Amino acid sequence: MPINNAWLFLLLAGSGVASAESYMADMQDEIPAQQKAANLGYFQSRDLSKIPEGEFGDKVRKGYELFVNTQQLKGKYVGNQLNCTNCHLDAGSKAYAAPMWAAYLAYPSFRKKNNRVSNFAERIQGCFNFSMNGKAPAADSPELVAISAYSYWLLMGGLLDMFGMHDKAVPEMSDAALQQGGNADSFKLPGPLSDKVKLDGRGHMPGRAFAALEKPAHAPSLERGAKVYGEHCALCHGAEGQGTVMADVPVIPALWGPQSYNWGAGMHRVNTAATFIFENMPLGKAVQLNPQQAWDVAAYMNSRERPQDPRFIDDVATTAKQFHADDDGYYGKELDGNVIGSQAFPATTVE
Ligand code: HEC
Ligand code: HEC
Repeated sequence: MPINNAWLFLLLAGSGVASAESYMADMQDEIPAQQKAANLGYFQSRDLSKIPEGEFGDKVRKGYELFVNTQQLKGKYVGNQLNCTNCHLDAGSKAYAAPMWAAYLAYPSFRKKNNRVSNFAERIQGCFNFSMNGKAPAADSPELVAISAYSYWLLMGGLLDMFGMHDKAVPEMSDAALQQGGNADSFKLPGPLSDKVKLDGRGHMPGRAFAALEKPAHAPSLERGAKVYGEHCALCHGAEGQGTVMADVPVIPALWGPQSYNWGAGMHRVNTAATFIFENMPLGKAVQLNPQQAWDVAAYMNSRERPQDPRFIDDVATTAKQFHADDDGYYGKELDGNVIGSQAFPATTVE
């Protein structure tokens, strides 16, 4: 891929936020949606066929396999029918579907959700506990080291390719370093890259997280959302949002109900879901929803019951006050005389 000057400038200049200060910039747990810039060539991760032989390559490959078929951990660490790639599309390589290459560079980072600095492996634990409605493996477990290795490889291989170093192997790192992420002080670029890429603004790689979406002209409506859902989503995701399982293999993910993400997951927020849906759904984009439709259908989807917030304390009202006070979601709100969250499914189904 030719080096795109505009893109390079962004990586070089970042937003002027130095790594130490980026902890502050990321104080919000919710990663701010990014303004999409026109005509930017987005980062391309290295082709998976180039994952090397040997012990390190095996870790990277294992990470890929866990990412696309997370169901192999069902019952052990995963409590629903989802795979990481259902939300982090194209095996975690698609810009604006929270790609792993951009995420890897952004950690360690401060997270409000647990009120401390999380490294990359700990951030993955969050998605196990909430998005996968499970119980995360330990940060230094083979599973999280493998997913970290895969994410690191996507980033570093793509950077080397960008500067024409297609044959240069991604430098190996220790398990301990892999868990940290690319925002660690100890993180170094390989020699040939070090004078080309300056790692300022590591949390702001173009394509990170989700693309900003304009606010809807009218407040999201569940009625309109139900209609959008019926017309553009139900065919694949099912009338009850249940997804599709064929021969015991989930092929289309559940959007709500017991097999979907729980009330603590980032996707439960209407704004996060709206940006994801506008950019990525219906899968294949035979139809482009307008922003209003994306907000309406996100509201509809996220007003349905799903597994309980695993941080649950005492009752829905207390939990809502403690954890959902300033998020754009339905948890704890009253709808047709019913408090949302009060009929939630079990928080997790793994030990
Ligand atoms: C239901 C959708 C969903 C699933 C499934 C999911 N995630 Fe996520 N993930 C998200 C969302 C949404 C965010 C952004 C968080 C936010 O803004 O609150 C995120 C954020 C992340 C981040 C941080 C991204 C960044 O740029 O900081 C990592 C790393 C991550 N997820 C890894 C994983 C892994 C590994 C799995 C599988 C074990 C997984 N996720 C499964 C929805 C999902
Ligand atoms: C052509 C079938 C199809 C249609 C139509 C479709 N989706 Fe999806 N959707 C998928 C598939 C398949 C995935 C998982 C993608 C992957 O693993 O690569 C997905 C993933 C998702 C996810 C993230 C995973 C999860 O379970 O939370 C959300 C949210 C979502 N779709 C919402 C919608 C909404 C809302 C609509 C309607 C506007 C829609 N989809 C239309 C097939 C479809």
